[in-house]
This record gives sequence, structure tokens and C-alpha cells, in this order.
Amino acid sequence: MSSLIEQAAQRLEQLRQAGVDMPATQTLATPSITAKNPDIGTPEGQPAPLSRRVEIDLDALATAGIVSPNAPRSEIADQFRVIKRPLIQNAMGKGASIIVNGNLIMITSALPGEGKSFNAINLALSIATELDNTVMLVDADVARPSVMRVLGLPSGPGLLDLVLDESKDMSSMLLKTNIEKLTILPSGTPHARATELLASDAMIRLLDDMAKRYADRIIVFDSPPLLLTTEARVLASHMGQIVVVVQAERTLQSEVRQALATIEACPVKLMLLNQAKAVFMGQYGYGRGYGQGYGYGHEQPQA
Ligand SMILES: Nc1ncnc2c1ncn2[C@@H]1O[C@H](COP(=O)(O)OP(=O)(O)OP(=O)(O)O)[C@@H](O)[C@H]1O
Ligand SMILES: [Mg+2]
Repeated sequence: MSSLIEQAAQRLEQLRQAGVDMPATQTLATPSITAKNPDIGTPEGQPAPLSRRVEIDLDALATAGIVSPNAPRSEIADQFRVIKRPLIQNAMGKGASIIVNGNLIMITSALPGEGKSFNAINLALSIATELDNTVMLVDADVARPSVMRVLGLPSGPGLLDLVLDESKDMSSMLLKTNIEKLTILPSGTPHARATELLASDAMIRLLDDMAKRYADRIIVFDSPPLLLTTEARVLASHMGQIVVVVQAERTLQSEVRQALATIEACPVKLMLLNQAKAVFMGQYGYGRGYGQGYGYGHEQPQA
């Protein structure tokens, strides 16, 4: 167990030595967890219920190794208690300085598959289940949405529908959940130019509207990776805080550096080292054993 944590710390040290800018780094001593069934949900594409209220299976979340109100003392819950603290402080204006749009938090990575959705969902659930804060989880990875599937919920209209038709009201697209402080904005109706829409003027207006209208909420965006498309960078330029998930033992230092360079202008950038290991089991199926050592590179805004 401890070796994973040491590896995470060593990896962060390597990145620092390679010139990746991480002034104050905190390495979180976390045990590894095993995700028994990471993808617990239903297929995408089914219409959402008219009530705009959805029921998340809290036991299934806990079984899948995701933060759940039904398992408040789980390892993953403990890990995210630490991870969320600086983000909440910055969002609520309690950090070193006031951050414009500090309540808009983007979870991204250099490349696909590094654990963006896993960490975005856990962060949102962690904030929603334990503190006074209300949280909105937005699936902004519109080309590869997965929030609804992972949470076991049917997909339906959402972000893309709002961007395409600005006369639609955002509140009518929000899904209330059985976790009182959590609402979800799904990615919405699939669109051929989904990623391009993320960088549209309509999207930027929507973000500004969100930041103002829901100023008392923390809004967590599961987002596309930074190095694949330029649109993710446009989205990033409107966020108050960005968490860059780095998959340990996979992402190259040069890729991390390149990704951080694309979000230079963001006031708060945090790096989350996500130690996920895939184990190939056979031709027709595969199981994954995940070790999770978290390291947190934390960059504070200039006061
Ligand atoms: N720390 C972790 N512990 C356990 N499982 C993890 C962890 N990080 C990621 N995973 C699992 O690894 C897989 C890939 O992660 P995830 O879908 O979050 O990545 P992503 O960056 O969102 O990918 P994409 O770019 O395709 O959207 C998922 O099955 C997820 O549950
Ligand atoms: Mg994802």
C-alpha cells in the first residue's frame, strides 16, 4: 500500500524536477482502493424521466468504490475529504485571494482515460454529501459523456441543448437527485459538432450565466482532455479553478507540462496524481485492479 503512495510522491518529485510548475505540493497518504465494478450504470441514450428528478443507487455507488452517503467512512470518502478542501475554500472566497468564477471547477487531463470522470464524480459527491455546499455536476465532456452511465442514470437533454437553443431555461434541464445537495446537468442530446459547441459564444454566455445565477453553488465540470482539442482550452479559460488529473505511470512529463501551459491563465490550477492500474485478464473480458495513490500539486493564485 505504502509503495503506491511513495510512487505517487516520487512521480510528483520527478515532474517538479522536470520543470513542471508546482510550488506547494502536498502528497496525500492514501491507501489503495479496489473498484469492484467501476461502471455500474445503464446505456446512454434513454430519455430522462419527465419529473427531472433522478434516483441514484447509493449502495451501488459504494460497491463501485465511489463516494456515497451510504459509506461515509470509506477510503475514497476520506481521500476526497482532503482533495476537496482547498477547492471549496477557493470557491467560497475563503482562500488567499478572491478568485473570479472560483465556483466553476473544471476537471480535465492532458489525454483521454486518465480518470477525469471518476474524479469529477467523486469530487461532486464528496462536496454534496458532507458539507453545507450545494453542488452542480456538469457533464461537459460532450463528445464522450459518461457521468450518467457511471451514476446508473438514463441520459437526456442537458448542456448541448442549452447551447443550441438559448431560449431554453437552464433550471428546466437540471436534474435533482436523492442526494439533496446534488444536481446534475447531463451532456444532453448528442450532436455531431459537440466539441466545437463547447467553444461557442453561446457556451461562454451560458457559463457566465451559471456563475452568476448559481453563485452559491460549486459547479464541477467533467471536461474533455486539454491536448486533443482546442475547445477544452477555451472552456478552461472561463474557469476559476482547474484540476488536472494525471494518470501515474502513463502520462509523460512533457504532456503534463504542455497541458499546464494551455491553462496558464487560470487563477488556480491543481494537479491530481491518479494512480490507476489496468490488469488485462483475457480475450473476452477484463478486470481492473486499481491502486490509487493521490498526490496533489497545488498552485495558489498570486495575491
Ligand atoms: N483512482 C481510481 N480508482 C479506481 N478506478 C479509477 C480511478 N481512476 C479512474 N478509474 C477508472 O478508470 C476508468 C477510466 O477513468 P475515467 O472514465 O474517469 O477517465 P476519463 O479521463 O474520464 O476518460 P475519458 O477521457 O474517456 O472521458 C474508469 O473505469 C474509472 O472508473
Ligand atoms: Mg470521462
